[in-house]
Amino acid sequence: MSTTITPAGVTLGAATTNERVPEPCIVVIFGASGDLTKRKLLPALFHLEQSGLLPQDFSVVGVARRDLSATFGPDMKEGIIAGGGVEESDPKLAPFMEKVQYFATNFDDDEGFEKLKSYLAELDEKFQTKGNRLFYLAVAPEFFADIIARLGKHGMAHPAEGSNSWVRVIIEKPFGTDLESARKLNDDVNAVLSEDQIFRIDHYLGKETVQNILVFRFGNGIFEPVWNRNFIDHVEITAAESIGIEGRGPFYEKAGALRDVLQNHVMEVLSFVAMEPPDSFEAEAVRTEKLKVWRAIEGIPVEKTSRGQYGPGTVGGKEVAGYRQEERVNPESQTETFAAVSLEIENWRWAGVPFYIRAGKRLAKRVTEVTIVFKQPPLHLFKGNGSNGNVEPNILSMRIQPDEGIALRFGAKVPGPTTNVAQVNMDFSYSDSFGKSTANGYERLLLDAMLGDATLFAHRDGVEATWALFTPILEAWAQQKMDFPNYDAGSWGPQESCDLLEKEGRAWGKL
Ligand code: BG6
Repeated sequence: MSTTITPAGVTLGAATTNERVPEPCIVVIFGASGDLTKRKLLPALFHLEQSGLLPQDFSVVGVARRDLSATFGPDMKEGIIAGGGVEESDPKLAPFMEKVQYFATNFDDDEGFEKLKSYLAELDEKFQTKGNRLFYLAVAPEFFADIIARLGKHGMAHPAEGSNSWVRVIIEKPFGTDLESARKLNDDVNAVLSEDQIFRIDHYLGKETVQNILVFRFGNGIFEPVWNRNFIDHVEITAAESIGIEGRGPFYEKAGALRDVLQNHVMEVLSFVAMEPPDSFEAEAVRTEKLKVWRAIEGIPVEKTSRGQYGPGTVGGKEVAGYRQEERVNPESQTETFAAVSLEIENWRWAGVPFYIRAGKRLAKRVTEVTIVFKQPPLHLFKGNGSNGNVEPNILSMRIQPDEGIALRFGAKVPGPTTNVAQVNMDFSYSDSFGKSTANGYERLLLDAMLGDATLFAHRDGVEATWALFTPILEAWAQQKMDFPNYDAGSWGPQESCDLLEKEGRAWGKL
């Protein structure tokens, strides 16, 4: 049973009222030969162009080690068409592609950086981009600090003296691998750039549904009064993927589920669910509230965590290999492909409300969801269809992806001469209400960085706060050898993750 909520007066594709177009600039992507540039960044930039949100005077320069000057343009065009859902005949495509350039250099080559500097100056003349630069580091993390140091050394990290142009740098994840490395990276980066030039990206913050958590909570009057320990029993956040590691063995072996997804994407989502209303939707105000949430989390004892690694199994009707059989993975690997943690936020709003968070690969299906489970009414007047004959709790599900939407589950009287209660859903679906979107989340983040708005980017203190929480867990895990694999591909993870909730009289909701 479901009711679709349709928005009043939404015009599909209409521009919103507060859109701004950035100043002329060059976007310089280091690591442009990687997948991200073709699959996400170029399609996102072209989507901005289609919506009239890129400046007229603009250029994109891909930088990588190999000489790809002959193939880069056509390759990016293919990415925009295939990955961005764009028609080849789109009249804006050919003029946009003329602005896409390529420059080859090694990341440790001083001469190459000097030439890059002159090349960008030439492009400034050609495209009237006024010295404004957005550097995007889509490279392996070991190159972050070196590239930034070299930008500094060759006078590219700051605008020319006396000019009112700007230089900003987007840094991809992972930002460190534990507290110490994150601090070191912050120090190295801050030695060259001021904090307001740095945009640490977490692509989850580009997702409409993640941003909508704040709109849902603070753009409506009716939810905030119940958004606290008086009404909420517990919160679950799941980031489940059905895919495995997709050939990224060497990267994943060093990362694992906690570092790869829990410490960043899931903690960002958690902060939006849990934070106090900020004074404004400005970077400083939002970051302050997020930080307060992370800092209010008590140290997480290792007994409140669970980790797993998938063995062979069946996903979506297909038999798949176990993690240890994946390419370039140690056959005795101790890397976790699943991580779950139970934590508490010790503040007046949340004390006593457990937050159960989990992330994993090769799970039963791809679903990222926030589930808010409300407390039961004080008296059960009616017989329900819950397992014990009681009415089930109200549940608010925020579906981050796929099938984006929000559902509120509540009890309703089943028609008939007796008073029986059944659970029904009031369901808002993004695609039903707003149409399907080809946006991939990077549009908003790239646009914001070009505009200098860091609201949806991680701050130095925030990164260190989340690492401070998870580093002790990683250290404790490193001391205890696991009997992996401990879950089948295609399941919902190891039994211990269910035990985490069972010990507290709860169970993961069905997704
Ligand atoms: C990335 C991780 O940051 O996020 C990947 O490195 C993961 O391992 C991906 O698959 C998930 O992103 P999304 O947008 O598909 O949920």
